[in-house]
Amino acid sequence: MISKATIDEVFDTARVEEVIGDFVNLKKSGSSFKGLSPFSDERSPSFMVSPVKQIWKDFSSGKGGTVISFLMEHEHFTYPEAIKYLAKKYNIEIEETEQTNEQKEEASERESMYLVSEYANTYFQNILHKTDQGKAIGLSYFKERGFTPETIKKFQLGYALDEWQAFSDEAIKKGYQLNFLEKTGLTIVKEAKHFDRFKGRVLFPIHSMSGRVLGYGGRILANNKKAAKYLNSPESEIYHKSKVLYGIYYAKQSIAKEDNCYLVEGYTDVIQFYQKGIHNVVSSSGTALTPDQIRLINRLTKNITVLFDGDDAGIRASLRGIDLILEQGMNVKVCTFPNGEDPDSFAKQNTLEELTTYLQENAKDFIAYKASLLMEEAKNDPVKKAALIRDMVTSISKIPDHIQKEIYVQECARIMDISEEVLFSTLAQIGKKDLQEASKLSKKEQKAFEVVKPKIAAKKVDVQYVLEHKIIETLLLYGNRTEDFEDLVLKENDKGDLSLEPVVHQAKVFEKIYLDLQEDEMEFTNDTFRTLYYTIIDMLNQDPEFALENFVKKVDPSMANAVTNILMNDEQYSLHDWERNNIFPKAKTQSISQLVNETILSLRCYLIDQKVNGFKQETIKHPENTKTVLEDVMNYSNLKMLLSRKLNRVL
Ligand code: CTP
Ligand code: MN
Repeated sequence: MISKATIDEVFDTARVEEVIGDFVNLKKSGSSFKGLSPFSDERSPSFMVSPVKQIWKDFSSGKGGTVISFLMEHEHFTYPEAIKYLAKKYNIEIEETEQTNEQKEEASERESMYLVSEYANTYFQNILHKTDQGKAIGLSYFKERGFTPETIKKFQLGYALDEWQAFSDEAIKKGYQLNFLEKTGLTIVKEAKHFDRFKGRVLFPIHSMSGRVLGYGGRILANNKKAAKYLNSPESEIYHKSKVLYGIYYAKQSIAKEDNCYLVEGYTDVIQFYQKGIHNVVSSSGTALTPDQIRLINRLTKNITVLFDGDDAGIRASLRGIDLILEQGMNVKVCTFPNGEDPDSFAKQNTLEELTTYLQENAKDFIAYKASLLMEEAKNDPVKKAALIRDMVTSISKIPDHIQKEIYVQECARIMDISEEVLFSTLAQIGKKDLQEASKLSKKEQKAFEVVKPKIAAKKVDVQYVLEHKIIETLLLYGNRTEDFEDLVLKENDKGDLSLEPVVHQAKVFEKIYLDLQEDEMEFTNDTFRTLYYTIIDMLNQDPEFALENFVKKVDPSMANAVTNILMNDEQYSLHDWERNNIFPKAKTQSISQLVNETILSLRCYLIDQKVNGFKQETIKHPENTKTVLEDVMNYSNLKMLLSRKLNRVL
């Protein structure tokens, strides 16, 4: 654990404009700095950094926060990683809180292993670029594969001399302990002897999310049938295969920016894609994707496109693993390549434009793809078809979102030429079975848990009206106040779990409301409210001394009535109705910033619900549009989930 004193020192020393200046070209603009948003493609700068307030705001993506949150957003660092990064930048010594001797030993063991890996990485690159053997064998191999010198440097590719102990001996000479060489797997120790594991192979270093070298993949050069084509570092204290994705360090920013991650099978697929200009690509290195690896991607995007080599057997074997991705609430597309091609060869032979077009045209939604693929062979075989239905429904049952589930059922029913009812009842069966297995409840106990839904005729409240009303009221009463706003930002804690963490920044209430509504492109539906809203914002903007009395005095007579009603009618919507209708409970004691956050989040949730309902109606009316509508629903459902979590936290 990093000590509180170190964290404080880092916060005191780090300057937001200096730190961000390393990533974004900032230009002075009044008391702030301006630059092009690093989170979206834009031509005119909307990214602001305030040295006075020590915060940043990106008006194109709506992101903003402190220096730490910038590093977490941009570099995808965890909190401790961000602190460590800043400590390094400002030469602050990191003080760790008291650790037991055992913890210290473990930590220094890991640290030593990192050091050995780092050393080896430099060493192998030097061999590749600076020795005759490296150049003649390693470098020419990479060139033959079509890698440019920049690519070779970028991915830090290396070569291990074809000698038994060249590397190990050199490392020992440099003072690295054999113990750690062995623990990282770089050296194999047998009795009194030791050997270089990667002897005579070209090397692909495997980086962590934050760029540390964890291990290596070593490819053999000769077409030697006896030895494995790839030899990888063994599992170790620092290299946990199931938690690492090859290429993630280079891809992370692009994955977040493109909001999609291409998943390929091999090292060379990643590199060839990257070189061609598609940077949001990672590889599971030939093994089935693990839940930890999916979580790694999930931190950056909800969308995965799995790219398969052009052979059927591989695809079939991979289908099941994809259910794991669905389980984590991610959207999965698949794309296959022409027979005999893999992403590497395809990217190599085509231009970026051709590649991009191919991916766009051939990426299919996973569920639909699986249904069509399996349907082909099951068409005339009822037994197979029954198995297929179960299989499909099992996949669908993994999807956490209900609306999405429902739409997939419709889509599958169409593809498999079967009624939706059958699919729904199979889905219900599977759901029930899961539930029983999970809770091991007996029939009798289950009864006790059954909830009888009370039949209350819900009084219809115009939610949007209420919320818009609330916004105007808040603007009038508190628009000019400066408040501390807590924005909830997704962050990863020490243990690697994602949670919503508050980031506090100061702003005027009206600025906050205006920016938030603008970010979502929300418009008022009520004409009076809309006019009032712009009038009030305008006045608050012009007059720093805005006072309600003056406003009411000067307001256009056609609006005066509405304003008074808003100000006086606070009690018109009784608290109880609001609570029951799940809009938001309003405690008189809550802070203004909370009130603002709740109102805006509630409005967002409501508008998204409306959109999704609209989509559902659309698919009922026009089933042929299901596919396109599906994508929209998925996007909105993701957003809704995030918003609901934020709202729960605020309430
Ligand atoms: N792999 C491995 N060990 C092997 C074979 C494969 O670890 N003996 C992993 C590697 O990560 C490899 C991936 O599985 O990148 C995909 O395997 P394959 O398609 O055979 O390799 P390519 O990356 O296509 O390698 P190349 O193009 O160099 O033949
Ligand atoms: Mn290949």
